[in-house]
Amino acid sequence: MEKRQELYAGKAKSVFATDDPDLLILNFRDDTSAFDGERMESLERKGMVNNRFNAFIMEKLQLAGIPTHFERRLSDTESLVKKLEMIPVECVVRNVAAGGLVKRLGVEEGRELTPPTFELFLKNDALHDPMINESLADTFGWATPAQLAEMKSLTFKVNAVLKQLFAEGGLLLVDYKLEFGLFNGEIVLGDEFSPDGCRLWDADTREKFDKDRFRQGLGGVIEAYEEVGRRIGIGAD
Ligand code: C5P
Repeated sequence: MEKRQELYAGKAKSVFATDDPDLLILNFRDDTSAFDGERMESLERKGMVNNRFNAFIMEKLQLAGIPTHFERRLSDTESLVKKLEMIPVECVVRNVAAGGLVKRLGVEEGRELTPPTFELFLKNDALHDPMINESLADTFGWATPAQLAEMKSLTFKVNAVLKQLFAEGGLLLVDYKLEFGLFNGEIVLGDEFSPDGCRLWDADTREKFDKDRFRQGLGGVIEAYEEVGRRIGIGAD
């Protein structure tokens, strides 16, 4: 398998073609962005830490029967993935109120959400990823009702697996964002799962171990990501 040209550079990852039309290489960079790219910083080791984190989580999800694009980790900062036709809709599940939900609805941060909520956002930086719903996704052709139903079902399956995994490390999975795509017509989990796209709090102290440390200027961002890795058993190899 040969690495070919760069196809796309996102805010934290770059995507490369390979000599196999069905496979891509994701390169996890040290770049860290917040507020739709308004704030950018390079954090040492982040690419490596997130690549390992994502590989570990994707393998767990695959073992639990959730189809993912992940094939294998190639190096410290690169992974091989299936090429998906991405669906431009972000799926967010919240177990505990934080972030956008608190801002939007004025509910108390830290309130347990029973049942957990499910929200859809359009992936569009220029519009700041506006909240959408199934009707809008259907009308504008972003995803069909059947695809959305499958995305919702898979997003909640991920919740069951990961809530348990993080709880074993003394961490609360507060919320997270997933992105899906199509591979041979099947809905498959794409993008990444790392502390960049979820909120993780210490179950007892509620200390933050995720990207909110960067957004809120708390420092110790990568150290916190590494601590999560240790707690859930990610080895250094
Ligand atoms: O900002 P908000 O509270 O809506 O985010 C919910 C969850 O989704 C958080 O864990 C956040 O990190 C993640 N998210 C993301 N990328 C976005 C929007 C939200 O990873 N574009």
